[in-house]
Amino acid sequence: MRVLVTGGAGYIGSVVTAELLGAGHQVTVLDDLSTGHADAVPEGAEFVRTSITEAHDVLAAGRFDAVLHFAAKSLVAESVVKPELYWQNNVVGSFALLESMRRHGVRKMVFSSTAATYGEPETTPIPESSPTRPTNPYGAGKLAIDEMLTSYAVAHGLAAVSLRYFNVAGARITPDGMLGERHATETHLIPIALQVAAGLRPQLQVNGVHYPTPDGSCVRDYIHVLDLADAHLRAIEWTREHSEGHLICNLGSGGGSSVREVIDSVRRVTGKPTPAVDAPNRPGDPAVLIASNAKAAAELGWRPTRGLDEMVADAWTFLQTRQPSESAG
Ligand code: UFG
Repeated sequence: MRVLVTGGAGYIGSVVTAELLGAGHQVTVLDDLSTGHADAVPEGAEFVRTSITEAHDVLAAGRFDAVLHFAAKSLVAESVVKPELYWQNNVVGSFALLESMRRHGVRKMVFSSTAATYGEPETTPIPESSPTRPTNPYGAGKLAIDEMLTSYAVAHGLAAVSLRYFNVAGARITPDGMLGERHATETHLIPIALQVAAGLRPQLQVNGVHYPTPDGSCVRDYIHVLDLADAHLRAIEWTREHSEGHLICNLGSGGGSSVREVIDSVRRVTGKPTPAVDAPNRPGDPAVLIASNAKAAAELGWRPTRGLDEMVADAWTFLQTRQPSESAG
């Protein structure tokens, strides 16, 4: 298919772009490089540097079959203090993109949604039928876009898949090159722990040690970015097979690892001491977030195959091969 990938210079977008090219799709990446990196756009993809609000020219010129929409601001804490950035970039931007698609007759979309649409879960693992009560503007905005897609599917014949990511980690390591996480401001547990292992930070904090979990630290559902990419390829097939409709699927392993278990994995994989200190809870952190992935299995035939140590090992390989100037953050 001829696919437009917004945010294809970012972590997840670039990995999915590489996998799309490998599967024979024709890819154009649209990215404003506000957080992405031009050198992450895989060879073989056309690259247009612009924002999603300016996508109409690209869509008019491109005759695309589908859009994979990754471009977004994605820091939960930032969304709490600067909600306007999230409503403008994510919600208004996605609306502009959808309208451009409608005008140019592009009726297939795969969208990066998030576990943050659910908020504090009532049940574990979390099925897609759970109440959606986001606890921050990042999650609220993503939920608003999911609702947009549902309404466009009903009214305008859109075939869309929203993939609700849980905690994505790992890297794409191939003889041709490596793609992984390179955030200017790193907030995620696995990259931070690996920076400690590499000696780029003195220690990491375990954010909360008295949660109602087996070891007192928060439990999250980690998923390898290559398993995530596989789900996107299946989601595109779903849009090819359906002329309209909106499918929402969680992407997680169905199991969880605590912060302390992640740190143990980092120590095991790297062989480095990786000092960690107990710290207060991070505001807004639910104790446990684990996906039910039964719907993704049933609807997309998707099953994650890579475990925590493999995610940590691949992210470690990626970190070690980067320039020192890129490593801190
Ligand atoms: N954590 C630490 N120390 C650190 C960094 C993180 O203990 O230095 C803890 C966090 O408090 C949390 C766990 O590690 O308990 C995982 O934190 P991350 O920041 O790696 O990931 P989150 O679960 O907060 O966020 C992820 C995605 C968000 C998405 C959210 C949905 O990164 O985009 O899941 O729940 F919104």
